[in-house]
Amino acid sequence: MEYKSEREDKKAYIGIYGCQMNIADAERMEGQLGTLGYTRTEDMTSADLILLNTCCIRETAEDKVYGKIGEIKHLKKNNPELIFGIAGCMAQKEGNHLIARAPHIDFVLGTNKINELPQIVREIEAEHGASIVDVAEMMGIHENIPIKRTGSLSAWVPIMYGCNNFCTYCIVPYVRGREQSRAPKDIVEEVQDAAAKGFKEVTLLGQNVNSYGKDHKEADFAELLRMVDAVPGIERVRYMTSHPKDLSDRVIESVRDGKHIAEHFHIPVQHGSARILKAMNRVYTKEAYRSLVKRIRAAVPHASITTDLIVGFPGESEEDFLELLEFLREIRYDAAYTFLYSKRSGTPAATMEGQVSDEEKHRRLTALMEVQNEISLEKNQALLGKDLEVLVEGASKTDENVWTGRTRTNKIVLWTHGAEAVGDLVQVRITNPQTWVLKGELL
Ligand code: SAH
Ligand code: SF4
Ligand code: F3S
Repeated sequence: MEYKSEREDKKAYIGIYGCQMNIADAERMEGQLGTLGYTRTEDMTSADLILLNTCCIRETAEDKVYGKIGEIKHLKKNNPELIFGIAGCMAQKEGNHLIARAPHIDFVLGTNKINELPQIVREIEAEHGASIVDVAEMMGIHENIPIKRTGSLSAWVPIMYGCNNFCTYCIVPYVRGREQSRAPKDIVEEVQDAAAKGFKEVTLLGQNVNSYGKDHKEADFAELLRMVDAVPGIERVRYMTSHPKDLSDRVIESVRDGKHIAEHFHIPVQHGSARILKAMNRVYTKEAYRSLVKRIRAAVPHASITTDLIVGFPGESEEDFLELLEFLREIRYDAAYTFLYSKRSGTPAATMEGQVSDEEKHRRLTALMEVQNEISLEKNQALLGKDLEVLVEGASKTDENVWTGRTRTNKIVLWTHGAEAVGDLVQVRITNPQTWVLKGELL
């Protein structure tokens, strides 16, 4: 009999949910599975191993994963050799409960245990026995994990893990642990390696990149940005996410002075009512946030500013909501990612009084999006006739003659394909700005 572990044509299906951190983690999972002889497949039905890298930021994210877990039950019935694992934030949150709910799961891998994936898979390959659950707390950062990057243009580079902020609605600090920063040397080496492989853009990742380095004091985020900006071959440096409370003038100066650092500030405000901001434990005041926006716009006038917003936080009155709309009109964001508040058990907000009904949440979300869409359109219309630098990503999804890329300010641009190639920096004249995209002509 041939042991599965000795075969070299094994296929792994990796389902990725949630944020960019999960994509970065999945690239490290795929890298390690590669060392065991697995290559990635997009076809779940022919896979020897299925790994779901999960998210639990909102209930809808979890529902999607439970749906998928259900589907996989049938596959497992037809193929008992199939190995099925759950990783990511839901794995960390639910641990053993996942196995109790779905016994066809072979292993549950916590967010801090990615490095143990090969050993666990080998064990299960050798002996399909009891399920393995490993969700222990993080003990230091594991470097030198092989990475199989997706795409060839834009690389995700985690600079820190975890979050110390405990916003009252948010599950992340419970499933990602406390903040730990990677050494600047390891980050710069990873960026150099990506550049050597042809990647033109890097996005530095962390739940709160502005508190980078507070634990090891080797460099702060402003210095790290300068180091990454200096790596030859990297044309664009992006980062996310910035907590408004920690975004220093030094970081704004790094963006202003940088050669390749994108003039885009994603500074999630979450709400525009002082009372709700306080209940959310966001720490900053509206005044401090206004002053931050003012400083950004003074230093980097053409920068785009985007945000995240939550509607229907417990206790949000109609008056609070109207204050939020007013704040949007005042700040005038280029774009906003808008979310319905989702109750996460274990977080302080889950047991707060004044939970808002689903119907009301949806009504407010629609009203919010209407206001923001109008502002986004106006902001984009101001770019009519402008020539913008675009990093070419390739053909758009709908038409192979229409190509797409992004401006330094992270706006999506569409144009008719000419002689440009993926990864080129080109100039596009904006002729038809819309709410979500800028249409233009290649110069
Ligand atoms: N660390 C980042 C955000 C990570 S989560 C930051 O602080 O900005 C991404 C976004 O999801 C958050 O900005 C917030 O708007 C939203 N979010 C988090 N928890 C949520 C919840 N329980 N319900 C609805 N939206 C939530
Ligand atoms: Fe969640 Fe707040 Fe941490 Fe962001 S800063 S991950 S919203 S707790
Ligand atoms: Fe989701 Fe975890 Fe990211 S909860 S948003 S995958 S950090």
